[in-house]
Parts: sequence; C-alpha cells; structure tokens
Amino acid sequence: GITRHYTFNIKMANVTRLCHTKSIVTVNGRFPGPKIVAREGDRVVVKVVNHVKSNVTLHWHGIRQLRSGWADGPAYITQCPIQTGQTYVYNFTITGQRGTLWWHAHISWLRSTLYGPIIILPKPTVPYPFARPYKEVPIIFGEWWNADTEAVISQALQTGGGPNVSDAYTINGLPGPLYNCSAKDVFKLKVKPGKTYLLRMINAALNDELFFSIANHTLTIVDVDAVYVKPFNTEILLIAPGQTTNVLLQTKPTFPNATFSMEARPYVTGQGTFDNSTTSGILEYHDQYHLHPSNSKHSLPLLLKRPVLPDLNDTGFATNYTSKLRSLANSEYPANVPKLVDRRYFFTVGLGSSPCPENQTCQGPTNGTKFAATVNNVSFVMPNIALLQSHFSGQSRGVYSPDFPIIPLSPFNYTGAPPNNTLVGNGTKVVVLPFNTSVELVMQDTSILGAESHPLHLHGFNFFVVGQGFGNYDPAKDPTKFNLVDPVERNTVGVPAGGWVAIRFQADNPGVWFMHCHLEVHTSWGLKMAWVVLDGSLPNQKLPPPPADLPKC
Ligand code: C2O
Repeated sequence: GITRHYTFNIKMANVTRLCHTKSIVTVNGRFPGPKIVAREGDRVVVKVVNHVKSNVTLHWHGIRQLRSGWADGPAYITQCPIQTGQTYVYNFTITGQRGTLWWHAHISWLRSTLYGPIIILPKPTVPYPFARPYKEVPIIFGEWWNADTEAVISQALQTGGGPNVSDAYTINGLPGPLYNCSAKDVFKLKVKPGKTYLLRMINAALNDELFFSIANHTLTIVDVDAVYVKPFNTEILLIAPGQTTNVLLQTKPTFPNATFSMEARPYVTGQGTFDNSTTSGILEYHDQYHLHPSNSKHSLPLLLKRPVLPDLNDTGFATNYTSKLRSLANSEYPANVPKLVDRRYFFTVGLGSSPCPENQTCQGPTNGTKFAATVNNVSFVMPNIALLQSHFSGQSRGVYSPDFPIIPLSPFNYTGAPPNNTLVGNGTKVVVLPFNTSVELVMQDTSILGAESHPLHLHGFNFFVVGQGFGNYDPAKDPTKFNLVDPVERNTVGVPAGGWVAIRFQADNPGVWFMHCHLEVHTSWGLKMAWVVLDGSLPNQKLPPPPADLPKC
C-alpha cells in the first residue's frame, strides 16, 4: 500500500439551512466534511489542527486500528482532546477492509457537524465481487439543529430531561424540499440510463435509525460496515447511526418520464419526543439532450414520484431486513466466526434514571429523577484522563476499575428476568480481556422504560451477529439456533427493541476499546463501557508506545 496524507483544519464556518445561519465547527470549512479515499493496505495519515475554541477529537468509525489504538479517537478513552491551537496526527493502516466507513468527532455532540465519508477501495488488482459500477456516490445522512448542538445537549444534561429534537434530517448536508425554507437545499443525484451506480450510504444522524428508499427503483445491498454481504434486492433499507451500507442502483434502460424522490425517515421504537420528519433528494436522469437548455422545449414534462416508506415503528420490516444480511462466507471472503468461545458475557442495555441532584429540578422519566442509560445497570462516568494512557503507563488506579458487573452465562446463572435498572449505579468500570480471547456477548434490551432499539458500536473490532430474538434471551435454547456459518460481520448492530442480540469477536487487538450506543443521547446518558485488551507475549501482539504528539489532559 501507499501512504495518503490529509490535513484537517478544524475551523468555524457559517452555514445556512432552513433559513437559519449558524457558525459551526467544520473540517477545512466544509459541511459535510471532506472524504478520505484509500485502498485496502494503505496507510492514512491525517494531521488535525484545532483552530476553534472547543476541544476536539476525531474517530475513524469502523477502522480496525490493529495495534494503532492511539489513533482511534474517542475523547478520554484513547486520547485526551486536542486543545485550541494544538495538532495531533492520526496514523493508521487499513487492514482487511474494503467498502465504506466514516469519520466523525468523538467528543460531546460535535459530530453533528464534524463528519465525512471514508471510501476504502479494494487493492489495485482485486475486483469487486459484483459488476464494476459506472460511478460511485457517497450518501451521508445527518441531522440539523437550528440551535447550537452543544447547547442542546448541555441543557438536557442539566435538566435531566431529553434534548430538543433536531429540526431536519439531511442528505449530504441538505434537508430537501419537504422542509420549510429548504426548496433549494436539495441533494440531486444526476444519472444516465442503463448504468449501475454504487451508493455508499452512511448514517451520521445523531439519534435516529433511518429507512431509505428511492421511488420506483430497486436497491441491491452488497456491503455493510465495509464487509461484503450476499447481495439481495430491496425497495427499502434500514440504517442505524454508525452503520454504513453499499448498494447498487441500476438505472432504467431508457429515459423515464419522471424524476424520482429519494427519502429517509426514522425508524422509532422508543417513546417520548422525536423528529418524525422526512429528508429528500432527487434522482434525475440526464443526457446531453436534457442538459442543453435550448432543447428544454423538447423535454417531456417531468412528474415527481415519491417512495413509500414503512411506518415509523415498523419493527416487522426491521427484523425481516436485518435477517437478510449475511456474510459472503466463500473461499475468497471467508467468515472467520470464532467457533470456540473463551468467555461469555451477558449485558443488559437500556434506559433508567438516577436521582436529581439537590437544588435542581429534573425532567427525567419520573418525578425527582433524571434520565440515565446503562450497560448492566452501570452508567459510565467519563474519566478526566484517557483510559488508554493510564492503562499503558500502568497507572489505572483512581482512573478506572476492572470490576464491570458481569453476569456470566457459563455456568448459567441468568434468571431470565432483566435486572431492574430504574435507579442506576455509575462508575468508570471496564472488562479486562487477555490477548486473543474469543468473546461471545449477548446484549439484552431491558425495556424498563419502554422497549427501544439500541445500535451498539464496538471500537477496534468487527464482530459477527450470530443470533437475535425478541423477549428474554434463553441461554438453554437460543444458542442452538446461532448462525456460525454466514452471520453478518459488522461494527454496529441494533439490539432489537424488547429483544436481544448475540455477537462474537476475537479480542486480537491490544488496547482500550469503547463500546456504546450510537444514539448520541444515550451515549451522553451513560450507555457506554470499555474493554481493555491486554498485550500478547509476542512483539507483534503488543500495543506500540504512544506517538510523541499525543495530546495531554
Ligand atoms: Cu462512530 Cu464511538 O463511534
């Protein structure tokens, strides 16, 4: 591979959407941010210079970061923030991945404006396992608030209530014409007839899973989270925050007498307030004939066709769609599912509440409480020095404790009833794993405050989704149905609303790896934890020392 150099200047820029102009944090003044393009095997070096008042870190979502944990980016987990005027160089190699990933800020809610695509092409001599597309187009969903998002979340954390919902969803930064004052801010995908386009879709929205569809067109899913899948056709796809999906779009063989709307709208399983609006863009057929304004009198009147999306809470669609995602699992792209499990874990994930601090009025789920979210009833408390730094220097005492509450499945003592997490505990607790442990993790939605789908993201690894179901996980029956042959491999998975998901991964990457719900509001409330993976005994099984420019707290 080669080395690809990028310079990301973090600076403010004025952006206007929905008739509101605000000053936002950007990379190089661009919104959405610039794309990174590399091939599998390349080294990527991104020099990040912070010119803004806020602290910043960037995360390369889904990049395996094999023995390069110092470049992973979550604030206070692998690094201290890059302060005003400081520079930090992220340096990592892309190993064994090809597809679409993305980068985003990983501190507070800055990722609402700091995000962009990572395009990973196969090695030069290696073709796609599908017909070569005519063109490739990134499509990145986001969420726009007219207000400052840092103010939105800090107000929510102070009152203990839910943050204000966004004012619009966006496609490539543009809300589209279904919103007021947004007629011109429309993403247009101009296509030719009879061609195949590869759409590289990314859900960078903060708090919502999204359904997406293009009127009168079929999408062929070929890749999720930078891993090829067995191709299948669908009219509608579902994508959770953090997830990426590559789809092939086959355009009509001749010029249609219509333009086609592409639309995305949330899949909502929780209660409470949410933004149920729709973002839209346009699929427009073009050729020279249509492009020449002098010919416009010859063009046929164009009709706008709109797609039909599932109901907001259509869990049936969600279940059916996710069950179709399967690894290629062939000789070229094998699914290396851990067959033997060294350690089994059972984690509950869900919302709860904690007492309202004195002298405060709280707007939590019940009187006198504020919202909290947990893994195994622990609401994670961010340390004020990075866990990876304290782990590497052997000074973890007072920073984190290795006593993350574990309900081992073997020997089974899980009662079948989710722990009551209405009132939660908190702490900076981690699970410590010896190098190369093969892990099975069952995550159960607790439903204490209503069932809700949680897109859980694990840093530093891909995992295989070996099983999922509704109700309480049954350790006696459910494992017999696990798919160890062609389960989908990914980095973010939805724990079904009122159900469970089982994943397996090989802890072959020494470092400290964050795991959290990718609904940003749940992360803010504490639905997060970390795995510490110890060094192995061989030199190539150890985390190298930190780079000299690693920021200090
Ligand atoms: Cu995409 Cu920890 O995040």
